[in-house]
Amino acid sequence: MGMTDLKIGFIGCGGIAAHHLNQLISLSVKPIAFCDIDRSRASSFAQRVGAGSVYTDYHDMFEKERLDAVWICIPPFAHKDEVVIAAEKNVNVFIEKPIALDIATGKSMVNAIRKYKVKSWVGYHWRQYDGVQRARTALMREGGRIGLIEGYWWGWIPSTIGGWWIKRDMSGGQVVEQTTHIFDLARFLCGEIGTVYTEMDTILHVDIPGFTIEDVGVFTLRFVNGAVGVISNTSAAQPIGGTVGLKVVTKNLQLEISSQSAKIYKGMESTEIRHSVNPYFEEDKKFLKSIVENTDTEIPIEEGLRTLAVTLTAVESWRRKTPVKVEEVLSQT
Ligand SMILES: NC(=O)c1ccc[n+]([C@@H]2O[C@H](COP(=O)([O-])OP(=O)(O)OC[C@H]3O[C@@H](n4cnc5c(N)ncnc54)[C@H](O)[C@@H]3O)[C@@H](O)[C@H]2O)c1
Repeated sequence: MGMTDLKIGFIGCGGIAAHHLNQLISLSVKPIAFCDIDRSRASSFAQRVGAGSVYTDYHDMFEKERLDAVWICIPPFAHKDEVVIAAEKNVNVFIEKPIALDIATGKSMVNAIRKYKVKSWVGYHWRQYDGVQRARTALMREGGRIGLIEGYWWGWIPSTIGGWWIKRDMSGGQVVEQTTHIFDLARFLCGEIGTVYTEMDTILHVDIPGFTIEDVGVFTLRFVNGAVGVISNTSAAQPIGGTVGLKVVTKNLQLEISSQSAKIYKGMESTEIRHSVNPYFEEDKKFLKSIVENTDTEIPIEEGLRTLAVTLTAVESWRRKTPVKVEEVLSQT
């Protein structure tokens, strides 16, 4: 069976799903079933590929279709039993970050994926940039001890997304929904995070009705390997002032990662590796390939649970006003 023979469904046909659909179409893969609580969105996806069944409830979709894989692209609060049902039906799962808003739901996903031995991939696409992978290789080969990590997501309220983004009970806040990419990148490059201490507040968007998440946040990290780090986020940057990335200082190297490139500094030399791949294309292509070739995936559901746990630890620290261990949050049931 080749990639183009796979029967694929979508749950959630909004902004990021359209992006994934484009990647699949460019791989000559045509999904056959589309589900969105907003029927018109699912219909427009079906029209885009020329045909396809339309659903407003994924339970119906899993009942009626025999799928090989599903792309789950729903907002954080909407995650319930869709991964568990997919796994029970032997459907491989591509899921966008964050995988859920609580550890129990995340664990139910991990357990089902393991029990039914289906493949999973979480959409932490920053790991797919070629510059990031080259930087990681440099870190492992010649970086030496890691000392300091500084990450940042200084942006704005995403305009294309529905009103759920600004509500804590729906998105989890910027740290859980968006800055999760930087926490995941920090884990990918520098190893596991042991404790998090958070200061965050709503200071700059107090005039926006219904805005219940942080608009400024600082997260102090201690990595298991002893390194210290800080990640900050805001959704109140000026349109011209956004900056997203991660810097690392090790014994022998210094790294600076952005969505454009990875810079590696060593002594008096600096190398800039411009990213040359579309990371969304890479993740979609590799996931399909792992299904066809029956190989392990690079970012299985366990990785999504771990990064979720770190960001939920950040929120827990803010609530308790004290540093919190990631393992404590991860052990929640
Ligand atoms: N990796 C990335 O770069 C990236 C970028 C954007 C969004 N995302 C993630 O993707 C997810 C979706 O974000 P988006 O920007 O596409 O949001 P969106 O609001 O544009 O689209 C979400 C869609 O899901 C539908 N939906 C909600 N509940 C549903 C349910 N129970 N069943 C079926 N459909 C349902 C909505 O009607 C909507 O069409 C979020 O978790 C977000 O964090 C990832």
